[in-house]
Amino acid sequence: MDKQTQQFVDTFAEQSHPDVLEQFDRASLEELVAKHDTPFMVLDLEEIDYQYKSLQAALPGVKLFYALKSLSHPELIKRLKSLGSYFDLATIGEVELVESLGIKGDQCIHTHPIKKDKEIARALEFGCTRFVVDNFEEMKKFYKYAGQVELIIRISYRSKQAVVDLSRKFGCVLEELPVLVDMAQQNGLDVVGLSFHVGSQSLSPMTQVNAIRSSIAAMKVMKNVKWKFLDIGGSFPVSYQEEVMPIADFCVPVMEALAELPEGIEIFAEPGRFISAPSMIEVVSIVGKAKRGARTWYYLDDGVYGGFSGQMFDHAVYPLAPLKTIDAHGEFYPSVLAGPTCDSIDVVAEDIELPDMQIGDILVGKQMGAYTLASATEFNYYPKPKVIVVEDIFDPETEAL
Ligand SMILES: Cc1ncc(COP(=O)(O)O)c(C=O)c1O
Repeated sequence: MDKQTQQFVDTFAEQSHPDVLEQFDRASLEELVAKHDTPFMVLDLEEIDYQYKSLQAALPGVKLFYALKSLSHPELIKRLKSLGSYFDLATIGEVELVESLGIKGDQCIHTHPIKKDKEIARALEFGCTRFVVDNFEEMKKFYKYAGQVELIIRISYRSKQAVVDLSRKFGCVLEELPVLVDMAQQNGLDVVGLSFHVGSQSLSPMTQVNAIRSSIAAMKVMKNVKWKFLDIGGSFPVSYQEEVMPIADFCVPVMEALAELPEGIEIFAEPGRFISAPSMIEVVSIVGKAKRGARTWYYLDDGVYGGFSGQMFDHAVYPLAPLKTIDAHGEFYPSVLAGPTCDSIDVVAEDIELPDMQIGDILVGKQMGAYTLASATEFNYYPKPKVIVVEDIFDPETEAL
């Protein structure tokens, strides 16, 4: 059994048969199911408000640049725009999406450390002038844009406590920073900030705190730079199978560390997951059932090639439960939940205990907004689940799209 499955089994074993959907009004979900064919995802705009405001309250004075890569649904972006959010972009596609929604270039930063020239040119055409750089070859790409761009140098701080350690792939080591700054300055380029991303779904704030401390120390030493920004990246965690630190607590040591920043330096963050993950649930149906050995296999109409793709790419295991009310004292049987495709890797939950389920029964997955639809495929020609946008999931009458 792999680590994820073991984690899933352990969680369920500890809590016997918890009602994963207890915070939802089942009647509201039933109404949605009556109106829409499964599989579908429900994007709850009210949840976006809640997550954005909670993070902003926990990080007062920090400018939040929403990382589109986690979920780029236009309704989510429009809602964040109305809340005063800024945006973190990484590709031409993302540039064009925010542009089409009336967002201005100066409300964005371009954070992909590796870019084609045409990506730099398109972002500049849009009016986005702040770019992240983390290596010498990338720096050279900006020589011809001297005077038009402000550069932020990304530093690598490895983290064992993040589920996705992004500093493995990006960021320069601190020792390279003076050389990169020197190279920029000699070629007329403005370095104005430092950034890092200590990894997505960080389970402790301490890597971020240490990264802030080292970055501030570097800024203080490098007096030849007029520092304007420190960008503390994403990493803010959400609860999947296990509870994580409440965001207010998580951000206390982060804010304490940021208090040491010299005056006049703005602070940016690039949250993705924290804002988008709780905003979507996925609703799927059982389309097949087979007894194979000791376990009952239930085949769903979506799986890891679709909305559950984050189980492959993002190492997430989503809380998932039948929509019908479960009798916690009733009979449960060892079961497997499989996706619809012909590939045997397409299994959503192994060794899950479920009551006897029937074809047509509905299951609901929670916390499915971040890195789910974003990485879904149409393998086997199954379409990606459609997205139903609601203002508040408890009130389907307010359905927006
Ligand atoms: C450059 C950058 N910024 C922000 C994010 C969002 O991170 P998170 O989802 O942990 O908030 C990512 C995630 O991959 C990233 O690569």
